[in-house]
Amino acid sequence: MSIDIPIVDLNRFLKTGDDELACSQVKDVMTEYGVLIIRDPRVDIGLPNRYRDMMQDFYRLPVEIKSKYVQTPLADGTQIYETGWRPPFTEKPRRRDEVLHLIPEGARPSAPPPADPKERYMLPVGARPETSEFPDIDFLSRIDPVEIENWVPICDAWGVAMSSALKSVMEMLALGFREPVDLFTNMLFEGVQKLAPTGLDLYRHGKSGTVAAGFHNDLSAVTMHGRSNYPGLWAYTRGWKRFPVRLPDDDCLLLQSGRVLEHLTAGRTLRGYHEVVIGEEAQIRIREELLVGKIPWRVSTTMFSNIRTDRYIEPIGRFVNEPEAARYFAEREKCGTRMMRTLTEKVVKLTV
Ligand SMILES: [Fe+2]
Repeated sequence: MSIDIPIVDLNRFLKTGDDELACSQVKDVMTEYGVLIIRDPRVDIGLPNRYRDMMQDFYRLPVEIKSKYVQTPLADGTQIYETGWRPPFTEKPRRRDEVLHLIPEGARPSAPPPADPKERYMLPVGARPETSEFPDIDFLSRIDPVEIENWVPICDAWGVAMSSALKSVMEMLALGFREPVDLFTNMLFEGVQKLAPTGLDLYRHGKSGTVAAGFHNDLSAVTMHGRSNYPGLWAYTRGWKRFPVRLPDDDCLLLQSGRVLEHLTAGRTLRGYHEVVIGEEAQIRIREELLVGKIPWRVSTTMFSNIRTDRYIEPIGRFVNEPEAARYFAEREKCGTRMMRTLTEKVVKLTV
């Protein structure tokens, strides 16, 4: 089934600092769908396309070159792939089996692969705290591949565009809930923020029905995306309806609520469950690209944002009084503690 998610325009809010209608729309859509589509007039026309094409150029590089950009393992030998290139089949999101029984037959997610065939590039952006108890996640150096022209300025511009949009939407969400404007942005300030675009080689993994990312929710506070060059993202409403997420054009950005935002709001904004599956509609384009001698890649222009590592994941503001608050307080812990624990859970060791 398809669902028309309203697109929220940030224009008026950016001009006036207040747009009651749009703020309550942000709240309503995030509450019901766990995803939100916005238009931000500050995003340069052409930037999303330039960034996506650049990432496609990177993914088309030979494996020997991409391998130069894998993060050096931690002192104890653990490979976390939290900066630089993350090879295919190294990521396995935790399948949320505990919710499967809630999903009506016919809307159930596809069976997940043993590990996701997609690759990723992790690039830390944004302000860092001066000190941290969690240096392995807070002070990761950025890795910039030298083979790709204009990598640094394009990544920088994309990082600024995404962060600015995120900040405004989180202000609008706070106002929509009739909370102080900085309720969420205070938590997110100096939190771990990473560009994390994915690439899927559709020559190898483009068959209809291929699961690029198994059913899961994100562990961050909020995930953002620009438009992908191929469709494939499916999400679930609060009532477990499965729907394809489509951005109508490059002016639009997508936000997905993650686990941490669900905790901060004691369940008012639910984590967005989703999966990425290559469909029949992608097949014509795949064949066209192959015919002109190009390897087709699906590129998603993702950014993960989390709250500061020293902040606690727990209900805040008015949400401390929500009926479900006690359940979320029971899982209270520092964001950094949680991130360190899950860091290696989702990484699949390469056996080559
Ligand atoms: Fe995800």
